[in-house]
Amino acid sequence: MPNVLKEMPAPGVAKLQINRPDVLNALNMEVRHELDAALADCAADPETRAVVLTGNEKAFAAGADIKEMAKAGPVELHALGIEQFWQNLAAFPKPLIAAVNGFALGGGFELALACDILIVGEKAQLGLPEVRLGIMPGGGGTQRLLRACGKYIALRYVMTGDRFSGIKAGELGLASEVVEDEQVLPRAVELAESLAALPPLSLAKIKESVLQGMEAPLNAALKQERSAYYLLHASEDKFEGMAAFIEKRPANFKGK
Ligand code: CAA
Repeated sequence: MPNVLKEMPAPGVAKLQINRPDVLNALNMEVRHELDAALADCAADPETRAVVLTGNEKAFAAGADIKEMAKAGPVELHALGIEQFWQNLAAFPKPLIAAVNGFALGGGFELALACDILIVGEKAQLGLPEVRLGIMPGGGGTQRLLRACGKYIALRYVMTGDRFSGIKAGELGLASEVVEDEQVLPRAVELAESLAALPPLSLAKIKESVLQGMEAPLNAALKQERSAYYLLHASEDKFEGMAAFIEKRPANFKGK
């Protein structure tokens, strides 16, 4: 069985499901390679306009595979190229929605934090428990959590390794939406379908502006936003979107 399953549950929407249920979807190198390849396919496929990344009802992913990691030293870990996986994920150009049920811990939570939109089940269990293993988050956890919810909340959870529920994630601003567990996947697919109907170039430039803006001083970020904004005025979809509004008809966006 593949470690990552791919389906197209709605027009323009790819669903990627991590599939190692026996180990709560722990992320080993095979999962990372398959996920990396599946995301590259989705990026290259013009028919795919939004992606939902999910696990199963028990676990989104319970972290890096501890059994694989336990044997490796820093040189082996570096040679595995895990950093490239995180870089590729961060550079994924299309809307990426994490649909999170069950455990999202360590590298699993970091995977969700690297997505654009998080739909989280009320009873999900999230956290960065790496400290309890004698390490610390290494897939962006300290930095993405800090930027998402500030120093005091981030250190509260990263230093203790405590888990928190999906409801708490919503209260901390760590979820785009918190829904009943059974609604997580349907809601994520519904949202992805609505994004898939929108102009892909606008979505790509919005994503780029927000993500680059998080790392830049305000003036530089505003300049970047303005040039992305001007660029979109050269797109066919701009003319289509505005003509559709004026002619009172639905727009048909082509990503051109
Ligand atoms: N790696 C490897 N195997 C894992 C795993 C992981 N991260 N998480 C769970 N499993 C395996 C268990 O070993 C167990 O396998 P066996 O049946 O062969 O023993 C199976 O999944 C089921 O797990 P449990 O029996 O432990 O299930 P539970 O319901 O009692 O507990 C849990 C669930 C609280 C999530 C517990 O499994 C747990 O604490 N897992 C580890 C969580 C963790 O520490 N994650 C961080 C990893 S480090 C990391 O992520 C670093 C990084 O990216 C930089």
